[in-house]
Amino acid sequence: MIDVAHPATYADGVPHAEFRRLREAGNVSWVPEPALIRHSSAGQTAVRGTGYWAVVGHPEVVEVARLPEAYSSAAKGAFLVDPRTKADLRTARQLLVNMDAPEHARIRKLVTSVFTPKAIGGLADSVRGHAANLVEKVVAAPEFDVVTDFAAELPLLVLTDLLGMPKEDRHLLYRWGNQLVGFDDPEYGGGDVEAYRRTFVEAFQYALGKRAEAVRSPRDDLMSKLANAELDGHPLADREFCQFWLLLVVAGNETTRHLLAGSIRALADHPAQRDALAADPSMLPTAVEELLRWVTPIMQFRRTATRDLVLGGRKIAAGDKVVLYYTSANRDERVFTDPDRLDLARAVNPHLAFGIGPHFCLGTHLARLEATAALSGLAPHLHRLRIAEPVVRMESNFVNGIKSLPARWLAG
Ligand code: HEM
Repeated sequence: MIDVAHPATYADGVPHAEFRRLREAGNVSWVPEPALIRHSSAGQTAVRGTGYWAVVGHPEVVEVARLPEAYSSAAKGAFLVDPRTKADLRTARQLLVNMDAPEHARIRKLVTSVFTPKAIGGLADSVRGHAANLVEKVVAAPEFDVVTDFAAELPLLVLTDLLGMPKEDRHLLYRWGNQLVGFDDPEYGGGDVEAYRRTFVEAFQYALGKRAEAVRSPRDDLMSKLANAELDGHPLADREFCQFWLLLVVAGNETTRHLLAGSIRALADHPAQRDALAADPSMLPTAVEELLRWVTPIMQFRRTATRDLVLGGRKIAAGDKVVLYYTSANRDERVFTDPDRLDLARAVNPHLAFGIGPHFCLGTHLARLEATAALSGLAPHLHRLRIAEPVVRMESNFVNGIKSLPARWLAG
Protein backbone atom coordinates (compact mmCIF):
# COMPACT_ATOMS: atom_id res chain seq x y z
CA MET A 1 0.00 0.00 0.00
CA ILE A 2 1.23 3.50 -0.80
CA ASP A 3 1.98 5.64 2.24
CA VAL A 4 0.28 9.00 1.60
CA ALA A 5 1.64 10.33 4.89
CA HIS A 6 5.33 9.86 4.05
CA PRO A 7 7.15 12.82 2.44
CA ALA A 8 9.36 10.43 0.40
CA THR A 9 6.28 9.01 -1.37
CA TYR A 10 5.90 12.31 -3.21
CA ALA A 11 9.39 12.13 -4.74
CA ASP A 12 7.72 9.94 -7.41
CA GLY A 13 4.70 12.22 -7.86
CA VAL A 14 1.32 12.65 -6.18
CA PRO A 15 -0.14 9.16 -5.64
CA HIS A 16 -3.44 9.94 -7.36
CA ALA A 17 -4.35 6.24 -7.78
CA GLU A 18 -4.04 5.75 -4.02
CA PHE A 19 -6.19 8.82 -3.35
CA ARG A 20 -8.79 7.43 -5.76
CA ARG A 21 -8.75 4.18 -3.80
CA LEU A 22 -9.23 6.13 -0.56
CA ARG A 23 -12.17 8.01 -2.10
CA GLU A 24 -13.70 4.71 -3.17
CA ALA A 25 -13.16 3.43 0.38
CA GLY A 26 -15.52 6.12 1.70
CA ASN A 27 -13.74 9.49 1.49
CA VAL A 28 -12.58 9.49 5.12
CA SER A 29 -9.93 6.91 6.13
CA TRP A 30 -7.62 6.43 9.08
CA VAL A 31 -3.97 6.71 8.02
CA PRO A 32 -1.12 5.65 10.33
CA GLU A 33 1.91 7.95 10.33
CA PRO A 34 5.43 6.78 9.55
CA ALA A 35 8.40 7.49 11.80
CA LEU A 36 10.23 10.56 10.49
CA ILE A 37 13.88 11.18 11.34
CA ARG A 38 14.80 14.46 13.01
CA HIS A 39 18.36 15.66 13.54
CA SER A 40 19.76 17.98 16.19
CA SER A 41 23.03 18.43 18.08
CA ALA A 42 21.63 15.95 20.64
CA GLY A 43 21.54 13.28 17.91
CA GLN A 44 18.91 11.64 15.81
CA THR A 45 15.35 10.89 16.88
CA ALA A 46 12.47 9.18 15.14
CA VAL A 47 9.21 11.07 15.51
CA ARG A 48 5.94 9.29 14.85
CA GLY A 49 2.60 11.12 14.78
CA THR A 50 -0.66 9.80 16.15
CA GLY A 51 -2.10 8.90 12.77
CA TYR A 52 -4.96 10.86 11.26
CA TRP A 53 -8.21 10.92 9.34
CA ALA A 54 -7.43 11.54 5.69
CA VAL A 55 -10.37 13.48 4.26
CA VAL A 56 -10.15 12.92 0.52
CA GLY A 57 -13.61 13.72 -0.91
CA HIS A 58 -14.59 17.21 -2.08
CA PRO A 59 -17.84 17.61 -0.07
CA GLU A 60 -16.16 16.20 3.03
CA VAL A 61 -13.21 18.62 2.76
CA VAL A 62 -15.66 21.50 2.34
CA GLU A 63 -17.67 20.31 5.37
CA VAL A 64 -14.58 20.29 7.62
CA ALA A 65 -13.16 23.58 6.34
CA ARG A 66 -16.48 25.34 6.90
CA LEU A 67 -16.86 24.15 10.49
CA PRO A 68 -13.90 25.80 12.21
CA GLU A 69 -15.43 25.58 15.67
CA ALA A 70 -15.54 21.77 15.32
CA TYR A 71 -12.29 21.41 13.38
CA SER A 72 -9.72 23.73 14.89
CA SER A 73 -6.66 25.21 13.19
CA ALA A 74 -5.23 26.41 16.51
CA ALA A 75 -5.54 23.32 18.75
CA LYS A 76 -2.42 21.68 17.29
CA GLY A 77 -1.76 24.01 14.35
CA ALA A 78 -2.63 23.54 10.68
CA PHE A 79 0.41 21.43 9.73
CA LEU A 80 0.43 17.67 9.56
CA VAL A 81 3.26 17.13 12.03
CA ASP A 82 2.38 18.02 15.61
CA PRO A 83 4.36 20.83 17.27
CA ARG A 84 7.10 19.18 19.36
CA THR A 85 6.62 21.24 22.51
CA LYS A 86 4.10 23.60 24.07
CA ALA A 87 6.47 26.46 23.28
CA ASP A 88 6.52 25.39 19.61
CA LEU A 89 2.71 25.35 19.60
CA ARG A 90 2.59 28.85 21.12
CA THR A 91 4.97 30.11 18.43
CA ALA A 92 2.99 28.38 15.69
CA ARG A 93 -0.21 30.04 16.88
CA GLN A 94 1.18 33.45 16.04
CA LEU A 95 0.78 32.49 12.40
CA LEU A 96 -2.59 33.26 10.80
CA VAL A 97 -3.10 29.74 9.43
CA ASN A 98 -2.78 28.37 12.97
CA MET A 99 -5.43 30.58 14.56
CA ASP A 100 -9.11 30.17 15.39
CA ALA A 101 -11.81 32.77 15.99
CA PRO A 102 -11.88 35.36 17.42
CA GLU A 103 -8.09 35.92 17.10
CA HIS A 104 -8.11 34.68 13.52
CA ALA A 105 -10.74 37.20 12.38
CA ARG A 106 -8.90 40.04 14.17
CA ILE A 107 -5.54 39.36 12.50
CA ARG A 108 -7.06 38.44 9.15
CA LYS A 109 -8.77 41.83 9.12
CA LEU A 110 -5.42 43.48 9.65
CA VAL A 111 -3.93 41.48 6.78
CA THR A 112 -6.80 42.26 4.42
CA SER A 113 -6.54 45.95 5.33
CA VAL A 114 -2.98 45.95 3.95
CA PHE A 115 -3.29 43.25 1.34
CA THR A 116 -6.14 44.89 -0.57
CA PRO A 117 -7.20 44.14 -4.16
CA LYS A 118 -6.12 47.76 -4.87
CA ALA A 119 -2.62 47.11 -3.47
CA ILE A 120 -2.36 43.92 -5.53
CA GLY A 121 -3.84 45.63 -8.61
CA GLY A 122 -1.08 48.22 -8.25
CA LEU A 123 1.45 45.44 -8.74
CA ALA A 124 -0.06 44.23 -12.02
CA ASP A 125 2.26 46.17 -14.31
CA SER A 126 5.40 45.16 -12.46
CA VAL A 127 4.27 41.50 -12.32
CA ARG A 128 3.73 41.53 -16.09
CA GLY A 129 7.07 43.26 -16.56
CA HIS A 130 8.93 40.63 -14.51
CA ALA A 131 7.16 37.81 -16.36
CA ALA A 132 8.00 39.31 -19.76
CA ASN A 133 11.68 39.75 -18.82
CA LEU A 134 11.92 36.19 -17.53
CA VAL A 135 10.26 34.80 -20.66
CA GLU A 136 12.67 36.76 -22.82
CA LYS A 137 15.61 35.46 -20.80
CA VAL A 138 14.69 31.77 -20.87
CA VAL A 139 13.63 31.85 -24.53
CA ALA A 140 17.07 33.23 -25.40
CA ALA A 141 18.86 30.43 -23.51
CA PRO A 142 19.31 27.13 -25.37
CA GLU A 143 18.83 25.20 -22.12
CA PHE A 144 17.42 26.29 -18.79
CA ASP A 145 15.83 25.00 -15.62
CA VAL A 146 12.08 25.65 -15.54
CA VAL A 147 12.10 25.81 -11.74
CA THR A 148 15.22 27.77 -10.79
CA ASP A 149 15.38 30.06 -13.84
CA PHE A 150 11.67 30.78 -14.20
CA ALA A 151 9.07 29.38 -11.80
CA ALA A 152 11.01 30.27 -8.65
CA GLU A 153 12.14 33.63 -9.97
CA LEU A 154 8.79 35.23 -10.73
CA PRO A 155 7.27 34.96 -7.23
CA LEU A 156 10.60 35.96 -5.67
CA LEU A 157 10.81 39.12 -7.77
CA VAL A 158 7.18 39.93 -6.98
CA LEU A 159 7.81 39.41 -3.27
CA THR A 160 10.80 41.75 -3.28
CA ASP A 161 8.53 44.44 -4.75
CA LEU A 162 5.76 43.67 -2.29
CA LEU A 163 8.07 43.73 0.71
CA GLY A 164 10.23 46.63 -0.44
CA MET A 165 13.40 44.51 -0.60
CA PRO A 166 16.38 44.84 -2.92
CA LYS A 167 16.11 42.26 -5.72
CA GLU A 168 19.53 40.86 -4.84
CA ASP A 169 18.12 39.65 -1.52
CA ARG A 170 15.67 37.31 -3.20
CA HIS A 171 18.06 34.37 -2.79
CA LEU A 172 17.44 34.74 0.96
CA LEU A 173 13.70 34.28 0.44
CA TYR A 174 14.42 31.26 -1.75
CA ARG A 175 16.65 29.66 0.88
CA TRP A 176 14.30 30.39 3.80
CA GLY A 177 11.30 29.07 1.88
CA ASN A 178 13.13 25.89 0.92
CA GLN A 179 14.35 25.28 4.45
CA LEU A 180 10.96 25.75 6.07
CA VAL A 181 8.62 24.25 3.48
CA GLY A 182 11.17 21.63 2.45
CA PHE A 183 11.91 20.62 6.04
CA ASP A 184 11.53 16.91 5.20
CA ASP A 185 13.49 17.05 1.96
CA PRO A 186 17.05 15.69 2.47
CA GLU A 187 18.57 18.43 0.28
CA TYR A 188 16.66 21.33 1.85
CA GLY A 189 15.64 21.17 5.53
CA GLY A 190 16.93 17.62 5.98
CA GLY A 191 14.81 17.19 9.12
CA ASP A 192 17.35 19.39 10.96
CA VAL A 193 15.44 20.93 13.85
CA GLU A 194 18.15 23.42 14.79
CA ALA A 195 18.64 24.62 11.21
CA TYR A 196 14.85 25.10 11.07
CA ARG A 197 14.91 27.29 14.19
CA ARG A 198 17.98 29.19 12.92
CA THR A 199 16.06 30.02 9.74
CA PHE A 200 13.36 31.71 11.81
CA VAL A 201 15.92 33.73 13.74
CA GLU A 202 17.72 34.83 10.58
CA ALA A 203 14.51 35.71 8.73
CA PHE A 204 13.10 37.61 11.73
CA GLN A 205 16.31 39.63 12.15
CA TYR A 206 16.11 40.59 8.50
CA ALA A 207 12.41 41.49 8.77
CA LEU A 208 12.99 43.66 11.84
CA GLY A 209 15.77 45.52 10.05
CA LYS A 210 13.38 46.24 7.18
CA ARG A 211 10.68 47.31 9.61
CA ALA A 212 13.01 49.81 11.27
CA GLU A 213 13.84 51.26 7.82
CA ALA A 214 10.15 51.50 6.90
CA VAL A 215 9.29 53.22 10.18
CA ARG A 216 12.14 55.72 9.70
CA SER A 217 11.24 56.51 6.11
CA PRO A 218 7.84 55.13 5.09
CA ARG A 219 7.16 54.53 1.40
CA ASP A 220 3.97 53.66 -0.41
CA ASP A 221 4.52 49.88 -0.30
CA LEU A 222 2.94 47.04 1.59
CA MET A 223 5.96 46.71 3.85
CA SER A 224 5.61 50.30 5.03
CA LYS A 225 1.88 49.84 5.62
CA LEU A 226 2.53 46.70 7.62
CA ALA A 227 5.47 48.18 9.52
CA ASN A 228 3.30 51.06 10.64
CA ALA A 229 0.01 49.15 11.03
CA GLU A 230 -1.87 49.19 14.31
CA LEU A 231 -3.91 46.51 15.97
CA ASP A 232 -6.45 47.67 18.56
CA GLY A 233 -4.73 51.06 18.70
CA HIS A 234 -1.20 49.65 19.23
CA PRO A 235 1.61 49.04 16.74
CA LEU A 236 2.14 45.35 15.98
CA ALA A 237 4.46 43.64 18.43
CA ASP A 238 7.75 42.64 16.78
CA ARG A 239 6.76 38.99 16.91
CA GLU A 240 3.35 39.61 15.33
CA PHE A 241 4.99 41.64 12.62
CA CYS A 242 7.65 38.98 11.94
CA GLN A 243 5.18 36.13 11.82
CA PHE A 244 3.02 37.92 9.30
CA TRP A 245 6.04 38.91 7.24
CA LEU A 246 7.28 35.32 7.20
CA LEU A 247 3.83 34.01 6.29
CA LEU A 248 3.86 36.21 3.19
CA VAL A 249 7.38 35.09 2.36
CA VAL A 250 6.52 31.42 2.63
CA ALA A 251 2.97 31.56 1.26
CA GLY A 252 3.86 33.82 -1.65
CA ASN A 253 6.96 31.94 -2.69
CA GLU A 254 6.73 28.16 -2.87
CA THR A 255 3.05 27.96 -3.76
CA THR A 256 3.27 30.03 -6.92
CA ARG A 257 6.62 28.46 -7.82
CA HIS A 258 5.11 25.00 -7.78
CA LEU A 259 2.01 26.15 -9.62
CA LEU A 260 4.14 27.54 -12.45
CA ALA A 261 6.53 24.58 -12.64
CA GLY A 262 3.70 22.04 -12.42
CA SER A 263 1.72 23.93 -15.06
CA ILE A 264 4.59 24.05 -17.54
CA ARG A 265 5.19 20.35 -17.04
CA ALA A 266 1.48 19.58 -17.46
CA LEU A 267 1.37 21.56 -20.71
CA ALA A 268 4.47 19.73 -22.00
CA ASP A 269 2.73 16.43 -21.22
CA HIS A 270 -0.49 17.50 -22.98
CA PRO A 271 0.53 18.94 -26.36
CA ALA A 272 -3.01 19.27 -27.75
CA GLN A 273 -4.07 21.37 -24.73
CA ARG A 274 -0.85 23.37 -24.90
CA ASP A 275 -1.43 24.18 -28.59
CA ALA A 276 -5.07 25.08 -28.01
CA LEU A 277 -3.98 27.63 -25.40
CA ALA A 278 -1.33 29.11 -27.70
CA ALA A 279 -3.93 29.42 -30.49
CA ASP A 280 -6.55 31.05 -28.27
CA PRO A 281 -5.26 33.22 -25.42
CA SER A 282 -8.87 33.95 -24.36
CA MET A 283 -8.69 30.48 -22.75
CA LEU A 284 -6.25 31.78 -20.13
CA PRO A 285 -8.74 32.35 -17.28
CA THR A 286 -10.16 28.81 -17.43
CA ALA A 287 -6.68 27.43 -18.14
CA VAL A 288 -5.27 28.98 -14.96
CA GLU A 289 -8.13 27.53 -12.88
CA GLU A 290 -7.67 24.10 -14.45
CA LEU A 291 -3.93 24.19 -13.80
CA LEU A 292 -4.60 25.18 -10.20
CA ARG A 293 -6.87 22.13 -9.92
CA TRP A 294 -4.45 19.88 -11.77
CA VAL A 295 -1.33 20.85 -9.82
CA THR A 296 -2.87 21.74 -6.43
CA PRO A 297 0.42 23.21 -5.16
CA ILE A 298 -0.58 22.83 -1.50
CA MET A 299 -1.76 19.28 -1.15
CA GLN A 300 -3.18 19.40 2.35
CA PHE A 301 -3.77 21.35 5.55
CA ARG A 302 -4.64 19.92 8.91
CA ARG A 303 -7.28 20.49 11.58
CA THR A 304 -7.99 18.96 15.00
CA ALA A 305 -11.48 17.83 16.06
CA THR A 306 -12.70 19.78 19.09
CA ARG A 307 -15.54 17.32 19.87
CA ASP A 308 -16.85 13.92 18.85
CA LEU A 309 -18.32 14.10 15.35
CA VAL A 310 -19.39 12.00 12.40
CA LEU A 311 -17.80 12.73 9.05
CA GLY A 312 -18.47 10.73 5.89
CA GLY A 313 -20.04 8.08 8.11
CA ARG A 314 -16.88 7.72 10.26
CA LYS A 315 -16.77 8.51 13.96
CA ILE A 316 -14.22 11.20 14.69
CA ALA A 317 -13.21 11.62 18.33
CA ALA A 318 -12.38 14.91 20.04
CA GLY A 319 -8.63 15.50 19.65
CA ASP A 320 -8.27 13.47 16.43
CA LYS A 321 -6.09 14.84 13.69
CA VAL A 322 -8.07 15.52 10.51
CA VAL A 323 -6.23 16.23 7.25
CA LEU A 324 -7.92 17.99 4.33
CA TYR A 325 -6.51 16.61 1.10
CA TYR A 326 -7.20 19.39 -1.40
CA THR A 327 -5.18 17.42 -3.95
CA SER A 328 -7.63 14.52 -3.77
CA ALA A 329 -10.77 16.65 -3.47
CA ASN A 330 -9.73 18.29 -6.73
CA ARG A 331 -9.98 14.90 -8.49
CA ASP A 332 -13.29 13.88 -6.90
CA GLU A 333 -15.38 12.14 -9.59
CA ARG A 334 -18.59 13.31 -7.88
CA VAL A 335 -17.70 16.95 -8.56
CA PHE A 336 -15.47 17.01 -11.65
CA THR A 337 -16.35 15.35 -14.95
CA ASP A 338 -13.47 13.16 -16.05
CA PRO A 339 -11.20 14.49 -13.27
CA ASP A 340 -8.00 12.88 -14.55
CA ARG A 341 -8.27 14.73 -17.84
CA LEU A 342 -6.54 18.11 -18.15
CA ASP A 343 -9.16 20.31 -19.79
CA LEU A 344 -8.06 23.92 -20.07
CA ALA A 345 -11.56 24.92 -21.16
CA ARG A 346 -13.25 23.30 -18.13
CA ALA A 347 -16.16 25.60 -17.42
CA VAL A 348 -17.37 24.29 -14.05
CA ASN A 349 -14.35 24.10 -11.81
CA PRO A 350 -15.01 24.49 -8.07
CA HIS A 351 -11.45 23.45 -7.17
CA LEU A 352 -10.12 23.79 -3.66
CA ALA A 353 -6.52 24.69 -4.49
CA PHE A 354 -6.86 27.84 -2.36
CA GLY A 355 -8.78 26.08 0.41
CA ILE A 356 -12.26 27.20 1.46
CA GLY A 357 -13.89 28.66 4.57
CA PRO A 358 -12.43 31.20 7.00
CA HIS A 359 -8.82 30.35 6.10
CA PHE A 360 -9.40 30.77 2.34
CA CYS A 361 -6.14 31.93 0.78
CA LEU A 362 -5.42 35.65 0.92
CA GLY A 363 -3.08 35.52 -2.06
CA THR A 364 -5.50 34.36 -4.76
CA HIS A 365 -5.42 37.62 -6.75
CA LEU A 366 -1.66 37.71 -6.71
CA ALA A 367 -1.25 34.01 -7.55
CA ARG A 368 -3.70 34.30 -10.48
CA LEU A 369 -2.02 37.48 -11.68
CA GLU A 370 1.40 35.82 -11.70
CA ALA A 371 0.17 32.62 -13.35
CA THR A 372 -1.69 34.55 -16.05
CA ALA A 373 1.31 36.77 -16.79
CA ALA A 374 3.72 33.82 -16.90
CA LEU A 375 1.54 31.59 -19.08
CA SER A 376 0.49 34.28 -21.51
CA GLY A 377 4.17 35.11 -22.10
CA LEU A 378 5.28 31.51 -22.44
CA ALA A 379 2.34 30.03 -24.36
CA PRO A 380 3.52 31.05 -27.86
CA HIS A 381 6.87 29.32 -27.25
CA LEU A 382 5.83 26.17 -25.44
CA HIS A 383 5.46 24.00 -28.57
CA ARG A 384 9.28 24.16 -28.86
CA LEU A 385 9.93 23.25 -25.24
CA ARG A 386 11.21 19.79 -24.39
CA ILE A 387 11.60 18.60 -20.82
CA ALA A 388 14.93 16.87 -20.24
CA GLU A 389 15.95 14.54 -17.42
CA PRO A 390 16.26 14.30 -14.52
CA VAL A 391 13.11 15.88 -13.13
CA VAL A 392 13.71 16.17 -9.39
CA ARG A 393 10.71 16.35 -7.11
CA MET A 394 10.60 17.55 -3.55
CA GLU A 395 10.16 15.06 -0.72
CA SER A 396 7.18 16.76 0.85
CA ASN A 397 3.74 15.62 1.89
CA PHE A 398 2.66 19.27 1.99
CA VAL A 399 3.58 20.93 -1.31
CA ASN A 400 3.42 19.34 -4.74
CA GLY A 401 6.89 20.53 -5.52
CA ILE A 402 9.43 20.17 -8.29
CA LYS A 403 12.98 21.22 -7.42
CA SER A 404 14.52 20.92 -10.86
CA LEU A 405 12.98 20.62 -14.32
CA PRO A 406 15.66 20.89 -17.00
CA ALA A 407 14.42 21.98 -20.41
CA ARG A 408 15.67 22.91 -23.86
CA TRP A 409 14.17 24.56 -26.92
CA LEU A 410 13.84 22.89 -30.29
CA ALA A 411 15.14 25.00 -33.13
CA GLY A 412 12.62 26.90 -35.28
C1 HEM B 1 -0.81 29.12 -6.25
C2 HEM B 1 -0.59 29.82 -5.18
C3 HEM B 1 -1.23 29.57 -3.86
C4 HEM B 1 -1.89 28.49 -3.35
C5 HEM B 1 -2.17 27.16 -4.06
C6 HEM B 1 -2.30 28.81 -2.00
C7 HEM B 1 -3.01 27.95 -1.17
C8 HEM B 1 -3.50 28.27 0.08
C9 HEM B 1 -4.33 27.41 0.87
C10 HEM B 1 -4.79 26.03 0.48
C11 HEM B 1 -4.62 28.08 2.03
C12 HEM B 1 -5.57 27.58 3.13
C13 HEM B 1 -4.95 27.26 4.46
C14 HEM B 1 -5.83 26.38 5.32
O1 HEM B 1 -6.72 25.66 4.82
O2 HEM B 1 -5.62 26.37 6.56
C15 HEM B 1 -3.95 29.35 1.96
C16 HEM B 1 -3.95 30.31 2.95
C17 HEM B 1 -3.21 31.47 2.88
N1 HEM B 1 -2.52 31.96 1.79
FE1 HEM B 1 -2.28 31.07 0.01
N2 HEM B 1 -1.86 30.06 -1.69
C18 HEM B 1 -1.21 30.57 -2.79
C19 HEM B 1 -0.62 31.81 -2.91
C20 HEM B 1 -0.56 32.73 -1.91
C21 HEM B 1 0.10 34.01 -2.02
C22 HEM B 1 0.78 34.53 -3.29
C23 HEM B 1 -0.03 34.61 -0.80
C24 HEM B 1 0.46 35.93 -0.34
C25 HEM B 1 1.50 36.57 -0.79
C26 HEM B 1 -0.81 33.71 0.05
C27 HEM B 1 -1.16 33.98 1.35
C28 HEM B 1 -1.95 33.16 2.14
C29 HEM B 1 -2.29 33.47 3.52
C30 HEM B 1 -1.87 34.72 4.28
C31 HEM B 1 -3.10 32.41 3.99
C32 HEM B 1 -3.69 32.24 5.38
C33 HEM B 1 -5.12 32.67 5.43
C34 HEM B 1 -5.76 32.39 6.78
O3 HEM B 1 -5.31 31.51 7.53
O4 HEM B 1 -6.75 33.06 7.08
N3 HEM B 1 -1.10 32.59 -0.66
N4 HEM B 1 -3.28 29.46 0.76
